[in-house]
Parts: sequence; structure tokens; C-alpha cells
Amino acid sequence: MNLHPLAVRIAHWVNALAILLMVLSGWRIYNADPLFGFTFPKDWTLGGWLAGALQWHFAAMWLLFANGVAYLAYGILSGHFRRKFLPFSPRAALRDALDALRLRLKHDDLSVYNAAQRAAYLGAIALIVLLVLSGLVLWKPVQLYALGMLMGDYEGARYVHFFCMAGIVLFVLAHVTMVALVPRTFSAMITGRLRRAP
Ligand code: HEM
Repeated sequence: MNLHPLAVRIAHWVNALAILLMVLSGWRIYNADPLFGFTFPKDWTLGGWLAGALQWHFAAMWLLFANGVAYLAYGILSGHFRRKFLPFSPRAALRDALDALRLRLKHDDLSVYNAAQRAAYLGAIALIVLLVLSGLVLWKPVQLYALGMLMGDYEGARYVHFFCMAGIVLFVLAHVTMVALVPRTFSAMITGRLRRAP
């Protein structure tokens, strides 16, 4: 049984790589002019120095952007999003999230995402869209002045960009923890098929 179409698997892993490069180089860029009273440990950053980090950030940005557009187009046009993420109920998402925290949430049928997964995936996709939009405002503040105004100008866009990054990092920590709890999902996201439970 094909659980994850090839297009989704490729987009997922390219996205994971792009997010890793964006976050690590982003932390180095942040360190050059911190918004808050802390900096990220240099060993956890990418690029070595500000200019190097900016080059990584701009290179990975195209990977994130092109891959994201392809994933969104595929998800909408093929019906993948409708099949996997809908219907969506906030009440069911809350119930499933609480069950997951109590380690009571079953994930036996891997072809169906539970409501907490649907909420988390839709949230992660929305955060990445907002990350890209706020990043574009920081990159081209004059050309994208109108979009920047919606985010509280250049300074506001910096906060939006930072908090979306923090949201994605929290999502990835929770996501990888859930995958570790149901390891069969990991091989299925690589091969597309279900490994028989031992
Ligand atoms: C090393 C890190 C990661 C691992 C091991 C991982 C693993 C997985 C697995 C196993 C699934 C399928 C879950 C299931 O069948 O129940 C999945 C789905 C998904 N993951 Fe990840 N993931 C990682 C990083 C990320 C990142 C960085 C993002 C986005 C920021 C992300 C977003 C998603 C989304 C949106 C889906 C649903 C895909 C779809 O069906 O269209 N993942 N991930």
C-alpha cells in the first residue's frame, strides 16, 4: 500500500534539509544583531560569520521556496491536502493532542492522519508561508513596503520572522518525538510503503 506519494516524500525531505540550513544560518544572522537578550551558541550555527551565514540563508531560501511551491501546487491540484488534512476540527485536534501528551493516542492506521497531526501539519505549512513572506520583507523592504506595513514595518517583520522560526523549531521537536514513538512512520516516509509490524 502506497502511504506517501513520491512527490510528497521528495518534498518532505528536501524541505527538512532546507529548514535545517535556514534555521542554523538564521541563528548566525540573528547573533550579529540580537532582538532579545541572548544569542545562539556559535557551534549550533552555520556560516562561520555574518556574510557566510547570509550566503547559506539566501542559497537555502531558493530550495525552500521552489520546493514549497511545488509541494503546495501538488497538494492542492492532486487532492492530497483534501484527502489527508480534511475535514479539520479544532475540537478533535485538542482532544488528540491531549491524548498524545498522555501517550494514549493510537496511530495504527498510518494512511490516516489524526486530528492533532492535521493541525500540526497545517500549522507548520502556514508558519513556513509566513516565514517566507516576512523574510521577503526583510530582504526587499522598499519594494515590499505595503506587505511590510501589515507586519509592523521592518522591525515588526523581524519579530514575525523570529517567532515563526521559534514555532517551526517547536513543531520539529514535537514532530520528531512523535515519529520516534511510532518508528514505522519513519520508514514509510522514505519508501512510501508500510513495513509489517514485527
Ligand atoms: C528529521 C526531521 C523529520 C522527520 C524524521 C520527519 C518525519 C516525518 C514522518 C515519518 C511523517 C509521516 C507521519 C505519519 O505517517 O504519521 C512526516 C510527515 C510530515 N512532516 Fe515531517 N519529518 C521531519 C522534519 C519535518 C520538517 C522540518 C517539517 C516542516 C517544517 C515537516 C513537516 C511534515 C509535514 C507537513 C508532514 C505531512 C506531509 C504530507 O502528508 O503532505 N517534517 N514527517
